[in-house]
Amino acid sequence: MNRRAFLTLTALSGLAGTAGLLSGCGSGAGSGPDRRPAPPLGPSVPLRIPPLLHPEPDADGVRRYELTMLAGRSELLPGKPTDTWGFNGPFLGPTLRASRGDRVAVTVRNTLPEASTVHWHGMRLPAAMDGGPHQPIAPGGAWSPAWTVDQPAATTWYHPHPHGATARHVYRGLAGLFLLDDDHDAGLPAAYGVDDVPLILQDKKFTADGALDGDPLKGTFGILGDHVLVNGTHNPRFDVGTERVRLRVLNGSNARLYRLAFADRRRFHVVGTDGGLLAAPVETDLLPLSPGERAEVVVAFAPGEDVLLRTLDDGTDLAAGDLDLIRFVATARPAPSPALPAVLSAFTPIAVPAGAKVRRFTLNGHDAINGEPMDLSRIDEVVPAGAVEIWEVRNNVYSHNFHLHEAGFQLLGADGRPAPGYAGGPKDTVFVPGRSTVRLAVRFGTTTDPTTPYMYHCHILRHEDSGMMGQFVLVEPGTEDTVPRTLPGTAGHRH
Ligand code: C2O
Ligand code: CU
Ligand code: CU
Repeated sequence: MNRRAFLTLTALSGLAGTAGLLSGCGSGAGSGPDRRPAPPLGPSVPLRIPPLLHPEPDADGVRRYELTMLAGRSELLPGKPTDTWGFNGPFLGPTLRASRGDRVAVTVRNTLPEASTVHWHGMRLPAAMDGGPHQPIAPGGAWSPAWTVDQPAATTWYHPHPHGATARHVYRGLAGLFLLDDDHDAGLPAAYGVDDVPLILQDKKFTADGALDGDPLKGTFGILGDHVLVNGTHNPRFDVGTERVRLRVLNGSNARLYRLAFADRRRFHVVGTDGGLLAAPVETDLLPLSPGERAEVVVAFAPGEDVLLRTLDDGTDLAAGDLDLIRFVATARPAPSPALPAVLSAFTPIAVPAGAKVRRFTLNGHDAINGEPMDLSRIDEVVPAGAVEIWEVRNNVYSHNFHLHEAGFQLLGADGRPAPGYAGGPKDTVFVPGRSTVRLAVRFGTTTDPTTPYMYHCHILRHEDSGMMGQFVLVEPGTEDTVPRTLPGTAGHRH
């Protein structure tokens, strides 16, 4: 597709002005003469596609992006507008796009009534650009991080990370995707919004008049909603015009674990995980995704098909309820798609050197790691730049997950069993089921900053906010024992 067609397409499918698209919601199947049981709410609304931001490099060769955090109103349920927050619009944000080697610069303006931050989840970048709780943006203020993209093609995302308030800010609508490309053309469907389709999954609770409901900091897990929005669309439908579609799925929920499956249990191929493409496609009919995780999959549709993607309850705490996510309706005469490539990327598992350092983390309850609640002034771990280490996360209670900023890792195994198939792919976030232990091979970045920490935490946002988070710094190898373990200016700032 040429650039002009691409821009027109994304303009038409942008998040703005979608209220009209929502009419017709709820008019589902099931009223026909055969009276077969129908899905509770017939998905019938065109899936919203977040607009793409892919600016040309300026005279200095830098791609410059503008994000404005703002309060607005969204019609999440038809005819029932509700107060929401978003980037450049009332709910969610644009999809940013860049390539390996690009110099990027973002201006983030905060027009919200309270301080927030923007964290680049999955991006390898200097700690001062990371957008964690140490880089707050005051109300009315702005923040301008810049970095050079240097990592394989991946589906990353951005979201606020303010100390103690992440769950609320994300739940209100602040999140977006940041797609990274590299020099290698994997031969996958790649027309954004056409056959390369983002799916941001977020479960919500609504009041009777359509307002966002629920307290993201209440109970053990915060929000476990009974409606799932996809890219902010309730009861969405995607009209498939090609033989195969690549779906880039983000679990952007506060707590829910999705167990993705098609209603007919058709098989599909996982081609990528959080950190990028797998070496080769892995076939499955069920894909679990915990909060913060991403997966790229390729699905084939026959002409005229109509099939639901669902999440299946497995009786555990975070996967409660069988819910319909989105309906795919295939055209009668699909455009041909490239065959699924046998080889996708040069991904090779992290080689763990003999004698690699092992760090152990224990999760009890939901407000601490290793018994220590998050403290902005405390450096928990000092890691030599470029290190490869084993991180072992032991969960003694109910479901948690585990995310590291900056670093990339692979799951070596859980409870002594090796990670199967795609679970061993490139990752930055991993599900840690109740009463289990996961072992991760972690490769850290090379940019040092002994006084600006990165975070590691449970990505169930209620847990992150209540203190299930720690901090690490990357330092010059050999200086681990000499760097300060307390940050100046933040002493006493405990959660
Ligand atoms: Cu999704 Cu600490 O981040
Ligand atoms: Cu992150
Ligand atoms: Cu947790």
